[in-house]
Amino acid sequence: MAIAVLGMQWGDEGKGKVTHLLAKDAKMVVRFNGGPNAGHTVIDRGVKFGTHQIPAGAFYPGVTSVLASGMVIDLSVLREEYGKIVEHLGRKPELLIAENAHLIMPYHRLLEDLEGSGKAIGTTRRGIGPAYRDRAARIGIRAIDLLNRSRLEARLSARLNLLQRAWPQAEAIMKLSASGLADDLLTSAQQFLPSIGDAPAAIEQTMARGEGVLFEGAQGALLDVDYGTYPYVTSSATVYAGLAHAVGIGDLHVERRLGVTKAYTTRVGGGPFPTELIGKEGEWLQTAGSEYGVTTGRPRRCGWLDLVALHHATRLNAPTGLAITKLDILTGIEEIKVCRAYSLRGREITAFPTSTEDLALCEPIYESVVGWDDDISDLRKYADLPSAARAYLNVISSELGVLIAIVSVGPSPEETIITGFDRAK
Ligand code: GDP
Ligand code: IMO
Ligand code: MG
Repeated sequence: MAIAVLGMQWGDEGKGKVTHLLAKDAKMVVRFNGGPNAGHTVIDRGVKFGTHQIPAGAFYPGVTSVLASGMVIDLSVLREEYGKIVEHLGRKPELLIAENAHLIMPYHRLLEDLEGSGKAIGTTRRGIGPAYRDRAARIGIRAIDLLNRSRLEARLSARLNLLQRAWPQAEAIMKLSASGLADDLLTSAQQFLPSIGDAPAAIEQTMARGEGVLFEGAQGALLDVDYGTYPYVTSSATVYAGLAHAVGIGDLHVERRLGVTKAYTTRVGGGPFPTELIGKEGEWLQTAGSEYGVTTGRPRRCGWLDLVALHHATRLNAPTGLAITKLDILTGIEEIKVCRAYSLRGREITAFPTSTEDLALCEPIYESVVGWDDDISDLRKYADLPSAARAYLNVISSELGVLIAIVSVGPSPEETIITGFDRAK
């Protein structure tokens, strides 16, 4: 069985928790997009991790963790992250790094700051945009280049030549040298060199044997470079529609696709957010939900659930089931609101606007749902949830036409209700 775990909002939906929960039954867990902009919280035997590039499979023996070619990989971050996991586990998890995955170079981070282009977007400043830009411009450095020092240095020289002509006044850029960069890269990469290989073939063979393969999405549908709230997006495809390309398998069929969404909405960084709650209510959600970024520590903007945006995400991710997280955070709210439509220039619309300027003008049209008071974090059966909580979940499920597969009622793996309703089970 192949399963994909996909974000339905602006990231941070709880993909890390869900992937970690499912990874114990997998043979392979594959991260397929983004890089260290992601921060996935995993609680492994009581220890909390913020993972950035290593998929959640690493926490289980016998599970291979694949970093697929749709990713951009920062080797120094990888080394640090891997070291922490090795220390926690007392063993070295098996990694497979796609040969054609691109690498984030020190100058990508420098460029993001020098250009200031990420400021309005509020990027994570991890060099994501410049690294994907180099990939598209055909001047990137790939994992496979690490296997041949002279080829690596030749590519770095060509890239630095362009870079230093463009930034003669930037000291940090001018002092870079191809041999120095190659030294640093190879130092970080040394322990990973045997892990660089043919990831598409390995994924294909594991799937053909009928063994469990789990695809761990990063970010969320609304941050997709093409279909998100452009330009306030990340620089990769974040959705199921982009998965086959990101792993390099044309005939990819993932039977079970879990669309992960919080029971409300959050967003880090800039960009329109129609259901955002400014003021006390938003601050309340931020505190109750501990809504602070895993990668940057920035406070997350908070608001009510947006079904218009989730409809858009449903088309892109084609979920066979929903994983609704953080339902426990809504406990105690008397009247919960959900947005079913927007008002744009006096007209009611239910299609998610492509124009960011239009989206910024959209006023949410809310429907109220009665809340519940009882603590739900100890519940493990769907039927035991308060009827008001089930009614709320039912609004989401029936509106999107997708069954609810998982309800998460706390950050720990145990704090989970597996409903068994997923059509693809
Ligand atoms: P990801 O990027 O999608 O993996 O999500 P993050 O890890 O960035 O953010 C999700 C946050 O919510 C983390 O702090 C999780 O520990 C926490 N979390 C996940 N599910 C639940 C839940 O059901 N209830 C509560 N209270 N916290 C949760
Ligand atoms: P996970 O996987 C939330 C946001 C940034 C910024 C925009 C572009 O943990 O859900 P980038 O650094 O990618 O160029 O920034 O995307 N962003 C995320 N927001 N969760 C993430 O990852 C994110 N990765 C990027 O805040 O608005
Ligand atoms: Mg996150």
